[in-house]
Amino acid sequence: MMSSKPINYELEKNMEVISQLDAIVGDAVDNVLVDPDDCWQPSDFLPDMSNPEAIEDIKLLQMRAEGIPDTVLTSLVGNMITEEALPSYQTYFNLLEGINEERNLLSPSGWVRWSKAWTAEENRHGDLLNKYLYLTGRVDMKAVEQTIHRLISNGFDPKSESDPYQAMIYTSFQERATKISHVNTGKLADKAGDHVLSKICKTIAGDEARHEKAYKTFMSKIFEIDPSGAMVAFEKMMRKQIVMPAVLMGEGGSRQSLYKDFSEITQKVGIYTGWDYARIIQHLVDHWKVEAVTGLNDMAAKAQDYLSNLADRYMRLADRMKAPDEVKLAWLK
Ligand SMILES: [Fe+2]
Ligand SMILES: [Fe+2]
Repeated sequence: MMSSKPINYELEKNMEVISQLDAIVGDAVDNVLVDPDDCWQPSDFLPDMSNPEAIEDIKLLQMRAEGIPDTVLTSLVGNMITEEALPSYQTYFNLLEGINEERNLLSPSGWVRWSKAWTAEENRHGDLLNKYLYLTGRVDMKAVEQTIHRLISNGFDPKSESDPYQAMIYTSFQERATKISHVNTGKLADKAGDHVLSKICKTIAGDEARHEKAYKTFMSKIFEIDPSGAMVAFEKMMRKQIVMPAVLMGEGGSRQSLYKDFSEITQKVGIYTGWDYARIIQHLVDHWKVEAVTGLNDMAAKAQDYLSNLADRYMRLADRMKAPDEVKLAWLK
């Protein structure tokens, strides 16, 4: 018997628009992402173990890292674990409708090339932070490794329904959110006297800024070609709220609350807060000039109304949200 799955016309249209962007995305791979030979690599920031003085460098690294507060260190570990789960991100991206129609990772399509070159850049973030944290001697590496293992096993669900439009909203939001987290961690590292860690965080944040810009540009194009569809996708994604990629890190383990504990700490130390969430919405609404878009269909006009007031609502929510008095640390020795 033939399956009689109804045709999803909205998704078909979105896939068609996505395929129109293929050349732009291919250009972004060549011009926004960086060739491996020209790109910074984790070893640029770490002691060279072939150097006879490496032990001295490690001692210095450990002395600098001594002053980092436990809460900041826990946040940094959580950020690192998030970066380490990128097999899930590459899989997610290639499963989106219209992105990898050939089901082939060696496809010359701009979108497929982007999915690989982007995650290859992300791979350096986890590598660098993982090695750095290991060298500080302050982290329970086995516990960290178990969390990474579990998180990748668990996967993640950004709730974008394999719709490429919603995925572009999600990634635009998420890249900006990680940029903010790394920038704020860098500032706290500076304050604690670890200027090398500060530089590491700022360098990673620079990558996230490039990624954010690219995803926002892809979405801007979608707004140009299909304003109503883009508006509706933006609304849909925001109603479901942006689920952080590492949300399943504690699932199935002995400490189910691990993700919640980690996000309470980032909230408390100001690495990533409810205000940041609200400000990111505002930024995206302004960037895509959501309030000025005209010629929308009824559904999209309603979405526009919803989005126009959304950041204010989250701002008020964040004002009322109190950071917990006590937080639970994780992954430390
Ligand atoms: Fe990253
Ligand atoms: Fe990124």
